[in-house]
Amino acid sequence: MNKAETAAARYVQTLFAGNSDGHGMEHTLRVYRLAMKIAAEEPCDSQVVGLAALLHDADDHKLFQTENNANARRFLDEQGVPGTTADRICEAINAVSFSRNRGKQPETPEGKIVQDADRLDAIGAVGIARAFAFGGRHGRTPEETLGHFDEKLLLLKELMNTKSGRSMAEERHAFMERFLEEWKRETE
Ligand code: ADP
Ligand code: NI
Repeated sequence: MNKAETAAARYVQTLFAGNSDGHGMEHTLRVYRLAMKIAAEEPCDSQVVGLAALLHDADDHKLFQTENNANARRFLDEQGVPGTTADRICEAINAVSFSRNRGKQPETPEGKIVQDADRLDAIGAVGIARAFAFGGRHGRTPEETLGHFDEKLLLLKELMNTKSGRSMAEERHAFMERFLEEWKRETE
C-alpha cells in the first residue's frame, strides 16, 4: 500500500469502529487486494482503483447516514487529493452497489474493477461464510439463508466486468456449487 492507501485504510478503520459489526474492515481489505490484482491486468488508473476499493463502504447507507460520499470526500480533501481525482474515485465507489445499480454496468474501468472485487468477496468460501453470518445477524436459520444463493450469489459470476475477475469468479462459483451439492447430500 502506498502512503495515501495506508491513510485510507486507517481512516475507514476508525469509521467502521463505531458502526459495523467488525467485519467491515476485513471485507474492505479483501476488496482492496482483489481490486489491485484485477487492476494489474486491466488498463486503468490504479491509484483511483486502490482508494475507491478502500473507501467503497465508507458511505454505505446501511452503516452511515451521509450524503454525496461525505465520508470519502472528507478524507480525500484532507489528503489534498485534487477535486477531479476525488470525483473519479467517488464515481467508481457509486458504481459498485448491487442494489442501487441493478442491471447497470459501471461506465469506467475503475468502477468495473472495484465492482468485480466487491462481488468476488460475496462468493466462494468467503462469500458462503459472509452469507451465513449475515443471515444469523438477521435471525435467519441456515436453511433460510440458502435462499440467498439462488437470489444473488449464484448470479454474480455472469455479471463480472473484467476477464481476470470473471476467471476468479468461475472458480469461486464452482466451489459454491460443490458446497450446495454436499449440503444436499448431507441433508437428504
Ligand atoms: P457489501 O459490503 O459487499 O456491499 P452487503 O452489505 O450487500 O455487501 O452484504 C454483505 C454480505 O452479506 C455479503 O456477503 C452479502 O452476500 C451478504 N448478504 C446480503 N444480503 C443477504 C441475505 N439476504 N442473506 C444472506 N446474506 C446476505
Ligand atoms: Ni463491499
